[in-house]
Amino acid sequence: MKSLVAYYSRSNITKKLAESIAGKVNADIEEIIPKVNYQGKIGYARGGKDAITEKIIDLETLKYNPEDYDMVYLGAPVWASKAANPLISYIKQNEGKFSNVKFFATASSSGFESTFEQLEKYVNVKPHVVLALTTKEVKKDLFEDKLTDFIK
Ligand SMILES: Cc1cc2nc3c(=O)[nH]c(=O)nc-3n(C[C@H](O)[C@H](O)[C@H](O)COP(=O)(O)O)c2cc1C
Repeated sequence: MKSLVAYYSRSNITKKLAESIAGKVNADIEEIIPKVNYQGKIGYARGGKDAITEKIIDLETLKYNPEDYDMVYLGAPVWASKAANPLISYIKQNEGKFSNVKFFATASSSGFESTFEQLEKYVNVKPHVVLALTTKEVKKDLFEDKLTDFIK
């Protein structure tokens, strides 16, 4: 089965998880890079605002076409109880190109449920399964069992 992992990460937590998933399922990996700067304190505030308003932004050129894959893993950090808007922007940019999806998200503590609901609305496909991990679980490598369930 041909798989793609497409993810956005601001501070490398979701990135670590994305790379772990891609390694296990032998997937191509697309890092979503926004043309908007979300780094630093100002970037943090901008991220919160843009997530709340579900702002669609421009992204750097993508390497892969999700249509070419049997399964697409979509991942992002939770921002203000929503998916970080660079992932929403990616989904919008690739509207109608997803048939089988799985969602993964990281957050300090909360907002997973609303994030997955929002993703489902934008992708317009029910995910096979979702994976929610806290920043701490990812940092401390406490996700092996959940990851095994997620990729099977
Ligand atoms: C703008 C912004 C908003 C956030 N909102 C939430 C939130 O609503 N709930 C939560 O538990 N964590 C929230 N966080 C924390 C991140 O989801 C968490 O640190 C995540 O693991 C970071 O992943 P990353 O390193 O891949 O960017 C927020 C972080 C940022 C930058």
